[in-house]
Amino acid sequence: MLANRSGEGSVRQTLLPPALDALIVGAGFSGLYQLFCLRDRLGLSVEALEAGEGVGGTWYWNRYPGARCDSESHTYCYTFSEPLLQDWEWTERYPEQPEILRYLNHVADRFDLRRSIRFGTRVTSARYDAAANLWRVATERGERLSAKFLITAVGCLSAANVPKIPGLESFAGRWVHTGEWPHDGVDFTGKRVGMVGTGSTGIQAAPVIANTAAHLTVFQRTANYSVPARNAPLTADFKRYVKANFPEIRRLMDGNPNGHAWLIADRSAFDVSPDERRALYEAAWQKGGLQFRATFRDLVQSKAANDTAAEFIRDKIREVVKDPVKAAILSDFDHPYAAKRPPIDTDYFETFNRENVALVNLRATPIERITPSGIRTSAAEYPLDIIVFATGFDALTGPLLRMDIRGRNGLALAEVWHAGPRNYLGLQVAGFPNLFTITGPGSPSVLCNMPVAIEQHVEWITDCVAHLRAQGLERIEAEAPAMDRWADQVKAAANATLLPLVTHSWYLGANVPGKPRVFMPYAGGMAQYRKICDEVAASGYRGFAVSR
Ligand SMILES: Cc1cc2nc3c(=O)[nH]c(=O)nc-3n(C[C@H](O)[C@H](O)[C@H](O)COP(=O)(O)OP(=O)(O)OC[C@H]3O[C@@H](n4cnc5c(N)ncnc54)[C@H](O)[C@@H]3O)c2cc1C
Ligand SMILES: NC(=O)c1ccc[n+]([C@@H]2O[C@H](COP(=O)([O-])OP(=O)(O)OC[C@H]3O[C@@H](n4cnc5c(N)ncnc54)[C@H](OP(=O)(O)O)[C@@H]3O)[C@@H](O)[C@H]2O)c1
Repeated sequence: MLANRSGEGSVRQTLLPPALDALIVGAGFSGLYQLFCLRDRLGLSVEALEAGEGVGGTWYWNRYPGARCDSESHTYCYTFSEPLLQDWEWTERYPEQPEILRYLNHVADRFDLRRSIRFGTRVTSARYDAAANLWRVATERGERLSAKFLITAVGCLSAANVPKIPGLESFAGRWVHTGEWPHDGVDFTGKRVGMVGTGSTGIQAAPVIANTAAHLTVFQRTANYSVPARNAPLTADFKRYVKANFPEIRRLMDGNPNGHAWLIADRSAFDVSPDERRALYEAAWQKGGLQFRATFRDLVQSKAANDTAAEFIRDKIREVVKDPVKAAILSDFDHPYAAKRPPIDTDYFETFNRENVALVNLRATPIERITPSGIRTSAAEYPLDIIVFATGFDALTGPLLRMDIRGRNGLALAEVWHAGPRNYLGLQVAGFPNLFTITGPGSPSVLCNMPVAIEQHVEWITDCVAHLRAQGLERIEAEAPAMDRWADQVKAAANATLLPLVTHSWYLGANVPGKPRVFMPYAGGMAQYRKICDEVAASGYRGFAVSR
């Protein structure tokens, strides 16, 4: 393991270590695999710089109660190593945060990755030095490093979004954001807790917090859909099946637009009678999970088809939640099902039947301010000991822009992206040679079971770097016209779905005040995206300028 000893920063600063072949920023799923590929497959000199004190990324930071993934465990993993697939054993249908973190630590140890990672090292600036053809990187601790290739593995959901609510600084209790959860936990015993936000995170956290808190008040701005996860321990039979049939599972994942191991039913919601449709939704509800979305092929394309799913979920909420006022607030949807990231849950709606859980409708009574003793809305003041912000992230662009990346002639990425992110294939930006962004905006990223998207990007980048080296090429850089064409493709792919219709979605940047409203991920499906990327590589990197 490198660094972390006091005083090293200043020594590094004066000695200026020799330039590396590549620097990677981040040591989550993306950074770990990119490090393995460049260091051990290509034999390059590489370091990864990680702000956290350990590997894991999302699973290092998001330690809130109830945190677990909603991709199924046998698909939420690396697939590049058959021995790793065979050796690792998941315990549940959806592993909890500690188990995923154990997995990523296992990967780091198994492939001896830690010795090439500097932990506790946040990159604060990255500048392209054209004369030397090097990226010059500075860290919060004052280190200076340089490398020919700079690869960001900073995650799409790693920049916490704490809303600027007036009075927060005056709050006398404790407040926490779920994406920066204290490692020693938060004790809710006997406490009055307020939780702001009902996205995937809030929906996971509320039932668990309600179990220990004296009282929980959930502050909901937008009513959200959720389908039961139906989590359960994996049976020995299922574990055997996965190990024996992984190539088949992988084929399913490759064929699914979102990288999950299931088929999307080849029928419209209107190919069946209303009774049959309801029975199919009921079966999917009982099975649980994100696969609910695959009940009909047109749920994310046709508003009329989507309405049938929305109605089914609305009825379920009314069935489960006994208080009709709470049920009405929870099911007052203003957007199509799955047009925002659809959560799955364990007893979320049931939680509102508990006597110690209250629900506040922020659409009717917005938050006015935080006071020393709690949250005040336009209707009432809610006394609280702890506020939990389950308010999401400055997604996709946030972690990149927080790094102050500057390309040729000091051109700031923030300037190029002032009206929203633009790049080629989600991988490169004109004016920023040899900079690659793993799961950058403009790629399937967050619309996909992410390890699939991550492996595809890492392997494409690795092949690209290998190609440059084999050809004696020094630089690769997206061409501006290719970026324009790609922006049109990203827009067209989004417009073929219901996703851009949701004006308050984080896919559009709408959750962060002042952020440009541009639909960021590529919604054309992982299979289509992979095909495009492969064709570009096979064509000798059409749309990229390469030079010696
Ligand atoms: C609570 C939660 C649950 C999720 N569940 C799922 C799921 O079920 N299925 C799914 O597909 N996806 C899920 N995701 C998305 C998840 O982010 C990805 O699956 C995956 O973990 C991303 O890996 P990554 O390495 O690309 O990014 P991350 O895991 O976010 O890692 C990025 C790393 O970069 C570091 N970093 C960022 N900026 C800097 C900097 N300037 N300097 C140094 N280091 C920096 C961060 O500290 C972080 O460790 C979830 C996300 C969250 C927040
Ligand atoms: N198991 C999983 O797979 C899992 C779990 C957690 C997270 N994730 C991933 O992480 C993404 C982010 O999830 P998230 O739940 O952390 O964030 P999110 O989906 O952005 O949800 C944030 C919630 O906070 C609310 N909010 C934000 N600012 C607010 C404000 N100023 N006042 C009141 N309410 C406010 C939002 O309301 P509005 O809707 O009105 O904006 C929303 O309900 C997910 O979509 C998913 O991709 C996955």
